Order: sequence, then structure tokens, then C-alpha cells
Amino acid sequence: MKDILNELESRRGNARLGGGQKRIDSQHAKGKLTARERIELLLDEDSFEEFDMFVAHRCTDFGMQDSRPYGDGVVTGWGTINGRQVYVFSQDFTVFGGSLSETHAQKICKIMDMAVQNGAPVIGLNDSGGARIQEGVASLAGYAEVFQRNIMASGVVPQISVIMGPCAGGAVYSPAMTDFIFMVRDTSYMFVTGPDVVKTVTNEVVTAEELGGASTHTRKSSVADGAFDNDVETLYEVRRLVDFLPLNNRGSAPVRPFFDDPGRVEDSLDTLIPDNPNQPYDMKELILKIADEGDFYEIQADYAGNIITGFIRIEGRTVGVVANQPMVLAGCLDIDSSRKAARFVRFCDAFEIPILTLVDVPGFLPGTSQEYGGVIKHGAKLLYAYGEATVPKVTVITRKAYGGAYDVMSSKHLRGDINYAWPTAEIAVMGAKGATEILYRSELGDAEKIAQRTADYEDRFANPFVAAERGFIDEVIQPHSTRRRVARAFAALRGKKLQNPWKKHDNIPL
Ligand code: HXC
Repeated sequence: MKDILNELESRRGNARLGGGQKRIDSQHAKGKLTARERIELLLDEDSFEEFDMFVAHRCTDFGMQDSRPYGDGVVTGWGTINGRQVYVFSQDFTVFGGSLSETHAQKICKIMDMAVQNGAPVIGLNDSGGARIQEGVASLAGYAEVFQRNIMASGVVPQISVIMGPCAGGAVYSPAMTDFIFMVRDTSYMFVTGPDVVKTVTNEVVTAEELGGASTHTRKSSVADGAFDNDVETLYEVRRLVDFLPLNNRGSAPVRPFFDDPGRVEDSLDTLIPDNPNQPYDMKELILKIADEGDFYEIQADYAGNIITGFIRIEGRTVGVVANQPMVLAGCLDIDSSRKAARFVRFCDAFEIPILTLVDVPGFLPGTSQEYGGVIKHGAKLLYAYGEATVPKVTVITRKAYGGAYDVMSSKHLRGDINYAWPTAEIAVMGAKGATEILYRSELGDAEKIAQRTADYEDRFANPFVAAERGFIDEVIQPHSTRRRVARAFAALRGKKLQNPWKKHDNIPL
């Protein structure tokens, strides 16, 4: 009997070695952790339950029958993050470069199926040379099986991808279909075709880092939602994110203990808005002052800075925040910010996370590059996302809410539940100067008259009361009491039930 037990331990020891000590050392030399070390950091201590440790590939081409390491390049199973269940796969670069074989894919599919059935998030730690070249189409089929599961799991359980090494070719499309992608700076990259192919086809000379490194994808392409300096920090941030999320679309986000008075008064907010309407201020200050303990988990912080997206907690409960940022492009909506915020709003709605919208928006960004780039269609994404969302929606207009952008930003008309405005709010079709220049074009030569017209327009429209008279604004609130008002609004909406009409699926302008 003892021999049999020892045999199991010896096999386990073999499996844990992956591709062997030399390759583990080489992984460490690149500043990367191994697949198992990553899982240990991601999950609560001793919580990992591994599956399929002894799975080996079945390929017999190219002499592959002589090398059949246990695990086949991916470690899979489940564990907990702060006590809550998650499923995880972690590709092992020390085994055939973490490349995906038929059996490697089957292991991933198995835990994805369990995750959907049992209602827990899937976290994929990607570090792979892509399709296992020796297996040909069997490997491509394996990818497609994973893709199909990504699609079916979308909106059912949160899916998080962490790119911790290469991720190239069609392999990028699995992470692309998940809810969040995080990358590790300097050691990870994602691209559909690598630098060599790019050079051959387009003559462009570019490094892997320039083409698909963390900076490219968090600043330029918006493929990734965040980037961190090393494996340890990245995995810690994934744990933080998971703490904000529900486990599935049937449950609600966890309620955490909080030590911050929901009625906290912030007198400094009374002077947040500068006297000069064209002077910017930092909208993040308001977010931090509304949030429990000033804790804000920003998503896509380095992309489309004119809109801010991320998670906070109010009375211990997760709230998704979307906020115009006057510090960047005066807070205008444009193609990038609309896409960024629309995706965030849809994530929140899919997983029953209430949305707080903070509005200071002078309108959509004008220009040929915006129009040629399809700002009509991309702007419509955000409008659509807000309009279809059935989660509790609370809006606070701090300053400008002009034109179509007023409608878009979770207005009453898009089923905003509780819409507040600060006394400094200006809700109008456009700013006073632009409006008078159109309405009184014939008087443009007379500066005095135009100044008077502008002042009249400001008196009439540069305030929240016209909208409040119509009930489009539920209440004009004191800035210092924003946290209390917002907390009470969300508390009042906890029982909200709203359903859209039956449809096979919608046709959001993609
Ligand atoms: C089988 C692979 C492999 C692969 C790497 N290896 N990629 N084995 N299939 N795709 C093996 C190597 O043979 C090597 O084995 C070990 O992994 C480490 O690889 P190295 O090249 O030594 O490592 P490194 O120098 O760090 O380079 C990593 C790499 C490079 C950039 C990923 O290995 C590479 O370019 N691989 C091929 C990438 C690729 O073209 N994949 C197909 C993409 S298309 P030993 O035994 O020496 O340790 C694709 C389509 C998906 O994926 C389609 C989905 C629809």
C-alpha cells in the first residue's frame, strides 16, 4: 500500500516539474513566475484543487510520442479568492512553450464548463506559443472549442484574462472575448501577426513590445484594461478586481464590511467647480469622495482619459462609475470614450452592478476625424448601452450637460432612476456663446448686444432648474452631501425590477 501511495506522490512530483528545472530556471530568468507559482499567488493559501494533473497529449507525429509530460502545458482547477470560488487555468510555458494541443484545450474547456454550471468566474493566465504546431488542425479545433465556451460564458460568469507571456495569432481571440484583460509590462504581448509577418507584408519594422506590448494595448488599442509591472502585482490586482464582482449573473456582488459613514459630508466639494466655466477640475476627486474609504478600482485608466470607468463601493456594495473627465478634452464624448464606457456599462448591466454616472460633458467632439471614424455609430453604443441597462442608475450632473451628450449620459429619458444635479449644473442644447451666435447671427457685429444676449441665455439656461421644473432632474443637491444622497438613492433602488421586452438578442450598433 505504501508503495502505491509513494507512486502517486512521485507522479505528482513529476507533474509539478512541468518541462523540467532547466526550463523553470529560464522562465525565472525572464522575470516570469511558473504556472503553479502564479496560481499560488492568485488564490487563497491552500485553496487550489487541481484537475487533470496526469493528462498527456495523444500526438504521435514528429516524434511527439517520446515526450508526453504530465499536464500537457496547462494547470487547471478551482480555488478561492478571499473565500469566493473561481476557476482557473494557467498555461505552463515550460511544457512545449505552453502551446495549445487538443488535450490542453480539453482541460481548459472542462473547467470552463464547470464554471458556467456552478456559477463561478473563470480566470485564464495566458503564457503560450499558440497552437501546438505538431498537432495541426486538432489544435485549431481546440482553440475554437475554447472560443465557443468564451461566447457561451459571456454574461453568465465573469471571465478575466491575464496575459503573462506571448499570446499571438488566433490565440488572442479567447482573451478578446473575455470581460477584462490585464497584461504584465515588458514580459507579455498580444498580436494577430507578429513583427516578422508585419515586416514581410507591410514593410513596417516594429518590435514585439511596440506591436503588442502592455503599453500599446492599454494606451493605443484599448485591447487591455490594465497593465502592471510584474507577475506578483498583476495577480494581486486580479484578486482586487474579483472582490468587486459577483460570481455569476444570478448572484449579486459581495457586500463588504465598510468603515465609512454613508452620510459623510464633504465640504470641499462645494468649491470643486471653478468659477470659470471653461476651467477644468479633476472629476476623480468627486469619485474618491463618494466612494467608501476612497477606494476606486479604475478600468482602462490609460485610455480615453476623457471618460473615467471603474468600480467603487457604497455602503459596502459594488457600484460601477462612469464619469466625464473635464481635465481631458474638456470631458467631450468621442469615439474612444464612447466605446470604452459602453463596454463598461454593458458589463455592469450583465452582472447586476448598479451604475453611478457623473456628468460634465460639453458635447461630442467635433471634427472630420471623428465623423470619418464613425462617431455616430460609436456614440450610439453608449446611448444604447445606457438605454438597455436595467440595473439601478443614479446620475449626478455637476456642471455641463449639453446637447445629445446630455441625453446619452444616463439621462432620465434613458430610464435613469434618480437624476441629481448640483446647483452649478448647466443643462442646455449647447453653451451660451454658441447658442447666441446661432440665434442672433444678424447681431454678430454688435459686441455689446451679443454680450447681453449671451448673459440672457446664461440666466435662462445655464442652471439645473429648467430641467428640474420638468422633473428631468429629481432634485438639485448640495455638492457636500453628494455621498449621502447617492448612497440613499442606491439604497432605495435595491428592490428595482425592470425587464426589457423579449428578443432573441439586440442589435447594438457594433
Ligand atoms: C509547439 C512550441 C510552440 C508551438 C513554442 N514551442 N511555441 N511548441 N508549438 N506553437 C516550444 C519551442 O519549441 C521550445 O521547445 C519551447 O516551446 C520554448 O520556445 P522558445 O522558442 O525556445 O522560446 P522563446 O525564445 O521564449 O520564444 C517564444 C515564442 C516562440 C516567441 C512563443 O517559441 C515562437 O515564436 N513560437 C511559435 C509561435 C507561433 O507561431 N505559434 C503559432 C501561432 S498561430 P523546447 O523543447 O526547445 O523547450 C496560432 C493560431 C491559433 O496560434 C489559431 C486559433 C484559431
